[in-house]
Amino acid sequence: MSEHPSNGSRALLPGQVKSWLGVVAFVLVAVAVLAFAFVAIRPATNTDLDRRTAQKALRADTESKAKALLTAPAKNADGSYRLPVADAMAVIAANPKVLADMRKSAAAPVAPVTTAFVKADDEQMKRGLAVYSRTCIACHQPTGKGLAPVFPSIAGVPIVNGDATLPIKFILHGLMGPITVDGVTYNSMMPPVAGVSDQDIADVLTYVRQSFGNKSNSVTPDQVKAVRAANAARTAPWNTAELGLK
Ligand code: HEC
Repeated sequence: MSEHPSNGSRALLPGQVKSWLGVVAFVLVAVAVLAFAFVAIRPATNTDLDRRTAQKALRADTESKAKALLTAPAKNADGSYRLPVADAMAVIAANPKVLADMRKSAAAPVAPVTTAFVKADDEQMKRGLAVYSRTCIACHQPTGKGLAPVFPSIAGVPIVNGDATLPIKFILHGLMGPITVDGVTYNSMMPPVAGVSDQDIADVLTYVRQSFGNKSNSVTPDQVKAVRAANAARTAPWNTAELGLK
């Protein structure tokens, strides 16, 4: 035995040592990868959920307390004035986490509120064209471009594409007075359009607002009905000055 002291360790030759080290390294790496994957993709534990729920509840509570302060009367019982904003800020500032949360959501971009353009159905457009051909076409022309400097254009002009109340008023009672459209000043008169129902006016304005390059939403008979009712006593045509038009 003493002649061959290395006999017992002959089993661990350098090559074998290396391959054992390889196996150990492989196992360590595999464990690390598995551990990472477990942490990264494990489902939320109850503790996480509890924490989130508690944070949400705290935020809701803080917000409602702050809101209550903001809408409370700004005077104390003794008649002295309070600054409700300061009170509300104090409540919010007492919960730094909630404050950070609020700042984060306040900084988040908000989608602008836009009214999406809704195309009118073909039937309404057909009815609108029929009314247009009967009641507007002689003056505003088949192109909607009118005949400067006598009849103004209704193609791509703001009055036609804005609040429908104005053109409804013109059709019901007429329009007179100076008005500048596309750089041309008209000072003449559009007579009231006779013999048109609420539905006819809704249809023709829908047609106009979606033709000649205009792209504005439909007009409903209810809108026309409301304008008609609000001006039931009126007999004179509208004056551009009284409507604030130039
Ligand atoms: C007899 C000719 C005539 C008829 C018919 C007529 N208009 Fe007009 N319209 C005019 C004149 C003229 C003006 C400008 C009035 C002024 O000078 O104040 C006008 C102005 C307008 C305006 C505001 C100015 C602009 O260009 O935006 C609109 C909108 C309009 N008309 C729409 C209509 C519609 C829709 C019809 C059919 C339902 C119609 N008109 C029928 C002659 C007419």
